[in-house]
Amino acid sequence: MQTHEIVRRFTAHFEKNGHTPVPSASLILEDPQLLFVNAGMVQFKPYFLGDVPAPYPRATSIQKCVRTPDIDEVGKTTRHTTFFQMAGNFSFGDYFKRGAIEFAWSLITNPQDEGGYGFDPERIWVTVYYDDDEAIALWKEIAGLPDERIQRRGGDDNYWDMGVPGPGGPCSEIYFDRGPEFGADGGPEADEDRYLEIWNLVFMQDERGELSPKKGHPPIGTLPHKNIDTGMGVERVAFLLQDVNNVYETDLVRPVIAKAEELSGKRYGDNEADDVRFRVIADHARSSVMIIGDGVTPGNEGRGYVLRRLLRRIVRSARLLGITEPCLLEFAKVVRDTMSPTYPELASDFERIAAVVRGEEETFRSTLSAGEKIFEHAVTDVRKAGGHTLPGDEAFQLHDTYGFPIDLTLEMAAEAGLTVDQDRFTALMDEQRRRAKADAAERKVGFVDASVYRAVLDTHGATDFLGYQTLDSESRIVGLLRDGQTVPAAEEGESVEVLLDRTPFYAEAGGQLADTGVLKGDSFQIRVDDVQSPVAGLRVHRGVVTAGTVTLDASVVAEVDPARRAAVSRAHTGTHLVHAGVRNALGSSAAQAGSLNAPGRLRFDFTSPTGAVDPAALVEIEEEVNSVLQSDREVQTYETSLDEARNLGAMMLFGEKYGDRVRVVDMGDYSRELCGGTHVRRTGELGMVRVLSESSIGSGVRRVEALVGLDAFQHATTEHLLVNQLADQMKARPEDLPERINGLVERLRIAERDLEKHRAEAVLASAGALADKAEDLDGTALVAVTAPDGVSGNDLRTLAADVRGKLGDRPGVVALFAVADGKVSFVVATTKAARDNGFAAGKLIPEFAPAVGGRGGGKPDLAQGGGTDPAGVDAAVQKLRSAIRK
Ligand code: SER
Repeated sequence: MQTHEIVRRFTAHFEKNGHTPVPSASLILEDPQLLFVNAGMVQFKPYFLGDVPAPYPRATSIQKCVRTPDIDEVGKTTRHTTFFQMAGNFSFGDYFKRGAIEFAWSLITNPQDEGGYGFDPERIWVTVYYDDDEAIALWKEIAGLPDERIQRRGGDDNYWDMGVPGPGGPCSEIYFDRGPEFGADGGPEADEDRYLEIWNLVFMQDERGELSPKKGHPPIGTLPHKNIDTGMGVERVAFLLQDVNNVYETDLVRPVIAKAEELSGKRYGDNEADDVRFRVIADHARSSVMIIGDGVTPGNEGRGYVLRRLLRRIVRSARLLGITEPCLLEFAKVVRDTMSPTYPELASDFERIAAVVRGEEETFRSTLSAGEKIFEHAVTDVRKAGGHTLPGDEAFQLHDTYGFPIDLTLEMAAEAGLTVDQDRFTALMDEQRRRAKADAAERKVGFVDASVYRAVLDTHGATDFLGYQTLDSESRIVGLLRDGQTVPAAEEGESVEVLLDRTPFYAEAGGQLADTGVLKGDSFQIRVDDVQSPVAGLRVHRGVVTAGTVTLDASVVAEVDPARRAAVSRAHTGTHLVHAGVRNALGSSAAQAGSLNAPGRLRFDFTSPTGAVDPAALVEIEEEVNSVLQSDREVQTYETSLDEARNLGAMMLFGEKYGDRVRVVDMGDYSRELCGGTHVRRTGELGMVRVLSESSIGSGVRRVEALVGLDAFQHATTEHLLVNQLADQMKARPEDLPERINGLVERLRIAERDLEKHRAEAVLASAGALADKAEDLDGTALVAVTAPDGVSGNDLRTLAADVRGKLGDRPGVVALFAVADGKVSFVVATTKAARDNGFAAGKLIPEFAPAVGGRGGGKPDLAQGGGTDPAGVDAAVQKLRSAIRK
């Protein structure tokens, strides 16, 4: 049975049974604790917690999921994948254990010609939480399962929660017995390869705190209702129903492997090392395309970093398979073709996805060649020292800085006939992991706060936002926090967080910076420096008590700083205009990837399929935007349904989750966007938009920065003054400046070249004079002197060789010292006759180098080194003399 059919049957089964089909959420949800959505229940979390009433009692979804903690295991086993689809059914206070078991049982065991999956009921096993007698009784009653196919397991296996504070509950897992050829008898308890988990039914009833009932800790409370959250692994069911060996061989994954076979000329199944690479490519291609589809671009932290790792692991695996040409796009196309029947946006948005993968592959290929140079140097060093092992530190640096996985380094080392000090490498990796863990643990602290906020939300409901209509309001303090804890009062000088029943303050969101202002009470005042929304619906005012004592429940007048709000709003309107201008100029695949609206300035990031924006196009965009300002369009905002907004052609951000009602910001037919931010009333208020720069901020993503209003004007004035000043200095008219400066630069270049030539000649000329000064030490001519000023590096070596040349056939040693910046460098050269007498340059260095606090080495004819003690040069010359006399 094809995967698309498995998914279709799942949805049909639950729809028939009263469930509302809900589309998969984006992989990116506003949940500070999750990098990516990793289970079907994530988008429903507020319904389980009771933060928001569920809009339907029953729901079903096919959720795209990404789990990356085991990224290094992918491919090595056939069980791990970073991308998978979870089919789920959910009950929000509606049916509970009985319903969940009935629905799951009928779908998996109903015959295929009756719409089920047709699994043999005799081969189904289940596990339950160790004390869940109720579930055991239901399994016997509904499925007729015998005692021996129901196993009790502890919290580690049969208690489910998100791994962080939130909803949780005991669960019951359904397994399919693949048969004795796949492992030992004895059920899931004995062997989870033979008995493969296909479905997890979670009886969601508890709220867990920092500590989980998984580990035997009591829950911190019960949820308002008893709920059901189930998750069926779509790919796992597919591999069982398609009668293949594992997930990688199923209909939606295998085609990527086929593409890799085609490009590499190798075959999957021929050898294990290559198979791992094939599987890495297949899995990562799916997860990365899905992640990019939801709006992530490669970067150096958070989601962007995960994406970057996934893409780079593909490129490296492909390289190890012998694919030398760029290949990411080829794999992405296969993913598009297999996945777009379920996720049509992958096809409609493919141009953007393609731009991102192309950009990243290009960047990475240049990083790789840099890494390869480092690798070659390291190999040369090892060989020179007569060793056979590449130090673990080098392997680690390659991994850390150049993104070389250890297997690539091992492979390349093996090709060079070397081994790698893997123990040292592993030790360094462990150390890094420990640091990362400590880091992550620290960041979790934030959660304590979230539960405090949630308590306020539970009691007082969401903050009423008045900021679209007014800049001040009479409000009441419904929450007061100091250091993340609720307090009854706070004193002058203390930093506080204040929650109001209603507020005109805009909380930072959608790139728009927060409002600042004051909260004035009868006998106190609070300066508001920032406003954030750590929990959906709440606005938290952060600031300092500047006078008096604040108490919970007090009344305040909340006043937004109007000048800042106006400046930020101008910037935000400017961003919409620049967005529209960029799309008009570059086409619709230039999609917004981020923005910042600050007082007087804006930043707009977008994916650019064609790389850098041509400066002429940039000028056009700027001109067009300014003409829209001049036509002084009205900026209208209104609420409408998501469908209607789509019909109106409003621009939406990819990967953003919108509710059914959306807010549209409209500037005539020039720009129409979904947006929750604040704006000016007419475009004329902006006065002027001045584009400052356009640059790259990562593969495929460009950034435009611009100034708005008076800031734009001031910038223009400053530039004008600067140009006038330059024109004065150069005694030229402003429009002649470029030519004048070009001329100057050219003359300077010629002068520098002449100077260099003269200097080199002078150095050469001094060779004869230096050779004339040679002293005779028992038949060996020694020239040991400090070189003329300004001679160093290459010049020093050339000079030493020239002096040696002047010594001709005589046995001779030349030692030149150069002193600069408190350091000494030196070069020693020997004539052939001297070498025949046993004087090797490299061997002479240790005789005198300690006198200048240094060391060095090299070949018998030429060696060099350096030291840190210029005062020791005379002593060094003495040492050299005695060494030669010896
Ligand atoms: N939330 C559960 C899981 O992820 C069931 O959907 O396994």
